[in-house]
Amino acid sequence: MSPQSNIELPRSENELALRKFVAPEIVYGATARTLAGQYAFNLGLRRVLLVSDPGVKDCGWVEHVASSLHEYEIESELYLDCSENPRDFEVMQGAKRYRDASCDGIVVVGGGSPMDCAKGIGVVWSHGRHINEFEGVDRLTEASPPLICIPTTAGSAAEVSQFAIITNTQVGKKIALAAKGLVPDIALLDPETTMTMSDEVTSATGVDVFVHACEAFVSTANSPITDIHALEAAAIVYQCLPQLLAERQNLYLRSRMLRASMEAGLAFSNAILGAVHATSHAVGGRYDAVHGVCNGILLPAVIHLNWQAAEKRYRVFARALGIELPSDSDEGRDCFVEAVRSFLRLVENPVTFREVGLSDLSVDILADFALADPCMVTNPYRPSKDEVIQLYEVSRG
Ligand SMILES: [Fe+2]
Repeated sequence: MSPQSNIELPRSENELALRKFVAPEIVYGATARTLAGQYAFNLGLRRVLLVSDPGVKDCGWVEHVASSLHEYEIESELYLDCSENPRDFEVMQGAKRYRDASCDGIVVVGGGSPMDCAKGIGVVWSHGRHINEFEGVDRLTEASPPLICIPTTAGSAAEVSQFAIITNTQVGKKIALAAKGLVPDIALLDPETTMTMSDEVTSATGVDVFVHACEAFVSTANSPITDIHALEAAAIVYQCLPQLLAERQNLYLRSRMLRASMEAGLAFSNAILGAVHATSHAVGGRYDAVHGVCNGILLPAVIHLNWQAAEKRYRVFARALGIELPSDSDEGRDCFVEAVRSFLRLVENPVTFREVGLSDLSVDILADFALADPCMVTNPYRPSKDEVIQLYEVSRG
């Protein structure tokens, strides 16, 4: 039975609501990375900033992409200064390199961090201002340079999304940028490039996909178009991620996870996210913690918090995973939260912040950052500061 056969779409309350749906051109399949040169040539590029990080370069993927560009006589200036949770100064240095090397486009090969860094570089170059000035929704007034993304993880979906997350090191928090101008021009989705992920990265990025699907589905900005992508993505992750962690060299499972990441990306890029990401961004920015792991730790408490506001949708989401819930509201909530916890344990996501060495959270400051995060706007329930603090306390363990 395919996971999709479990999916029963709800009668959408947003069927008549005005919604838009943005997406890049997506090329999907094994060896898609080798098309970088052809697509850069089609965009008229002659000298690109090739953005990545040292770990991805060591895996050989940067060389593959550079030689594809070379085949089409496109020069590349390599920029590798992207750390996990990309910093504002790395974006600024990248924009300077782009300008100094007279580049006319960006090709990025890597996970969410290099892709977000590359988006930031484009924004800074086109506007001539500091990246920290662009926090929020629709703050871009100039077009970014052409951007081709080749993801090497199946998680952030930055290759299809209209988001970029950058750490503002001046105040120690992550800032979220959201704008149509951040949607890449081309996404080359090649499951082969995800084969080099470690078990830890496979788990954390897979959990991120699951949370993207869940938050997009219960978001107040959901739509019939995003619903189908969110449920399909969730069903694939729920079924495939545990299998993949047992057989990490299975290209078929890698391919399914990459598609799930892309589908969850299409869902959350357009329906936005919720309280898991808002609270997780705050922790990630302050403590440089792993994004997907933080999301997994926070998800059960957020479902508990949101249940009354989004029970109907959580029940449809659970059904898409093949989980039957008791009809009583409280019992249904507890059953769903426990099923999600079991899944997270199965894919080896830590259950508490204490387990990842974060037993001393500054919950008051984190709650302020979380409540101001743009992702909180579309959460189905608007929590008070006390409730957010309580959420952190419960998740700390
Ligand atoms: Fe995420």
